[in-house]
Amino acid sequence: MRAFLISASQSQISTSVRADLTAPDGDDVTVALEWSGINYKDAMVIQPNSRVRRSATLIGGVDGAGTVVASRVSDIVPGDRVVVHGGDVGVGRDGGFAEFVSVPRRYVNVLPDSLSTREAMVVGTAGYTAFASLMALEQRGLTPDQGEVLVTGATGGVGSWSVVALSAAGYAVVGSTGSSESQQWLIEMGATRCIGRNDIGDKADRVLGSELWAGAIDCVGGETLHQVLRTLRYGAGVAASGLVVGAELSTNVYPFITRNVALLGIDAVSASMETRMNVWRLVADTMQSRSFEPLIDSVIALEGIDGALDQITRSQTRGRILVNIRG
Ligand SMILES: NC(=O)c1ccc[n+]([C@@H]2O[C@H](COP(=O)([O-])OP(=O)(O)OC[C@H]3O[C@@H](n4cnc5c(N)ncnc54)[C@H](OP(=O)(O)O)[C@@H]3O)[C@@H](O)[C@H]2O)c1
Repeated sequence: MRAFLISASQSQISTSVRADLTAPDGDDVTVALEWSGINYKDAMVIQPNSRVRRSATLIGGVDGAGTVVASRVSDIVPGDRVVVHGGDVGVGRDGGFAEFVSVPRRYVNVLPDSLSTREAMVVGTAGYTAFASLMALEQRGLTPDQGEVLVTGATGGVGSWSVVALSAAGYAVVGSTGSSESQQWLIEMGATRCIGRNDIGDKADRVLGSELWAGAIDCVGGETLHQVLRTLRYGAGVAASGLVVGAELSTNVYPFITRNVALLGIDAVSASMETRMNVWRLVADTMQSRSFEPLIDSVIALEGIDGALDQITRSQTRGRILVNIRG
């Protein structure tokens, strides 16, 4: 089969598209993949001293979608259209940049009828995380009448899907972006207005800023998350999923102890089967009569993955890069 192979030795990484690999079939569910997508984590996996990669040689791709060709479990049968993501897929075991993948049952979701495999990968792990973030905020009590909800890293995969998910649910969305040329695009995606990356907080000389945001979805982390925390309104929450500017968070406890603010962790990797099912249902319901096309940055073949990983590392993407596995 054809696949995008990553090989690491000492501090050297090499990648190649190989056509001579044996198709896997050893695990619970074996899928003929049709589509995958480029996620930030895929770029982390090919860093020479990656803390994310857990295997020296593996097929990349933290997600993929296609049709089941073999199954050893009773609730998934050949012919089912599925999405594969989570766990160590594309990190410690072979992932979605391949014509076939074989994985444990817990990494597989049967797609709702209204979602095609292509659409599922326009969403991908990034979009899944955005919808999971919305669910977490609403479980915390967020409703559209409470005020503006901030999305950071708004043109990225998680960010752009957060804008779409929130606006479809009736929220007034403020997109924070470093890409001034994409502000109009974010408005078309559903943002009510956009601000710059450095315009999230105010009153820099004070411990807490003004109470600006009824909620927030942050995939950037670091100083950005600190600014979000200090400007959330009383009782608000921020759904935090990412570390684009780094894993460190320097902040203080005042937002938590004087404004009852909540820092809600979002994890797409080890979510329960029930959570995964609920999120994919929410995606399908939300997108019922909406087009996925505006969220596609570009469509590439396996040969284009190297360039796309470089692009996402440099924040030169808008929305999602789709990988047409058999294109
Ligand atoms: N917790 C989970 O399970 C989970 C799941 C999926 C993703 N993630 C994480 O979420 C993060 C985003 O993933 P993604 O796929 O959305 O990546 P992405 O498409 O590259 O988006 C990241 C966005 O961050 C913004 N950004 C880049 N550099 C910045 C900087 N120096 N300061 C402020 N903003 C900056 C950019 O948006 P603008 O140009 O619009 O500012 C960029 O598009 C990653 O850290 C990823 O690992 C976590």
